[in-house]
Amino acid sequence: MHQTQDAPATAPAPHSPRRWYDDTVGYQVYVRSFADTTGNGIGDLPGVLAHVDHIADLGVDFVWLNPVYPSPGFDHGYDVADYRDIADDMGGMAAFEELRDALHARGVRMLMDIVPGHTSHTHAWFRSARQGRDAPYRDFYVWRDPAPDGGPPNNWESVFGGPAWEFDDHSGQYYMHRFLPEQPDLDWRNPAVRDAFDDILRFWFERGVDGFRVDVAQGMLADPDWTDIPEIDPDLPPDEAADLRFSGYMGRPETPELYERWRRIADSYDALLLGEVYLSDPDVVATYITDDRLHRAFFLPLQHTTWDRDQVATRLRRAVEVAQGRFAWPQSSHDDPRAGSRFGGGDRGRRRAMAFFHLVGALPGTPVMLAGDELGLDDGQVARLDAEDPITTRNADREDGRDGSRTPMPWDPDLPNLGFSEVEPWLPLGSNRGADDTVTVQEGDPDSPLHRMRRFLAARRGLVGMLATDEVAWLDLGDDVLALRRGDVVVACNFGSATHLDLPGTGRLAVASSDDAAVTGTDLALGRDTTALVVLEEDA
Ligand code: NOJ
Repeated sequence: MHQTQDAPATAPAPHSPRRWYDDTVGYQVYVRSFADTTGNGIGDLPGVLAHVDHIADLGVDFVWLNPVYPSPGFDHGYDVADYRDIADDMGGMAAFEELRDALHARGVRMLMDIVPGHTSHTHAWFRSARQGRDAPYRDFYVWRDPAPDGGPPNNWESVFGGPAWEFDDHSGQYYMHRFLPEQPDLDWRNPAVRDAFDDILRFWFERGVDGFRVDVAQGMLADPDWTDIPEIDPDLPPDEAADLRFSGYMGRPETPELYERWRRIADSYDALLLGEVYLSDPDVVATYITDDRLHRAFFLPLQHTTWDRDQVATRLRRAVEVAQGRFAWPQSSHDDPRAGSRFGGGDRGRRRAMAFFHLVGALPGTPVMLAGDELGLDDGQVARLDAEDPITTRNADREDGRDGSRTPMPWDPDLPNLGFSEVEPWLPLGSNRGADDTVTVQEGDPDSPLHRMRRFLAARRGLVGMLATDEVAWLDLGDDVLALRRGDVVVACNFGSATHLDLPGTGRLAVASSDDAAVTGTDLALGRDTTALVVLEEDA
């Protein structure tokens, strides 16, 4: 592993011994959109294998693969039909093993995506559970009697629209689904469900998986009193409103404890548990990452942050304070618009996205990019008629569909479909700048986002003085600037126009997100929408 080889010589922060996942950088592969080798227009594991050197050359430490288990695909793999196999159209178990070995041979670890909150309605457990009130596995799921008027048991809404309850004619009861009706929720109050997942974790750890991204880690348990959600104040900030809207079955205070047994299992394999804890309050997210729970949790409010200095500062300051180096900082993901699009799109959005990654990548914790972020991609254009995301296809009135960040990876302008697939891809290609958005073209241009990203990751790995500490001191270097000091490194991100900053000492520029950064003595000249990392050589 890169980090093991380059582990800092100085003592780590006292809260934890250094493990392989400390100071690492993650790379999310939405497998369906990475590369297709079978000619069905959908990416697969041999497609990831074909580009394994691209991943390793980037300098990331681990890959997180979105779900590749057998699935009917109503939510593109997040409706799992069998937790102990790899889908044939993804290449099956043989492809998984080959990819695992190829990544490991290059010093890159591999995380799978575990989906513990719900199964597919085609999973054997649910097929049995549906047979009747006394059927085997009935109690693996959440069943309730209808309300007195025959309607759903309460007013809970599903995240994907409509009620969170589906009526089952056969038994006369409703089952709960946080997401689609094709994704029935498991009942984590049932110890047998907990045992089943212990075994599933071990199954994959025994097969050399280095960890899991835990889907909807804040889900799992529902309010045992089944209380209706009160009307939501329309003036609440959107993130807080969402927390409240889904609070019947998300973020229940007993949930973080569930991970204590997972932690014991993962630690016995030296594996990483990285939770998707989709909650807005960093203090609450932090309850999932105490010493005996998940190792890491994504801090997802960053996915809803615009290019606004105060907004970014407010969110990051509290998050850094409570995270103890254990938050993962998402650049983009398959669930939200890409960083470039969030920050205004076009070349400006791209430049800001690179600045953002240099900023969060310098914080204690784990920056994670989505494949394509290294090319500076913004969201692909997907017309409503071409939509694949159930949020769009099932809700005529919703504009928050996720297809834009899921558009296929553009590899090579000289190949059909930019090298993603021989046939028409499952979604339109994600290349708004044509050839300039492809890997091979960026490979030949030292100023491309691809080269800049590589330079940043290489420089970051060399900043031993920064990585050795999780302590962050925020600096006041100017109104439009967010600046901090970590170890001997000053990090400054300029949200405003070009400026000069007075550094707390003389230094040398280690790396910057654009060419518009230069250090002379204690002066840092910093262009707009740029982050610079400066190694202090002598305090002023
Ligand atoms: C979170 C995943 O990231 C998202 O893509 C999925 O739709 C939901 N969980 C449901 O599993």
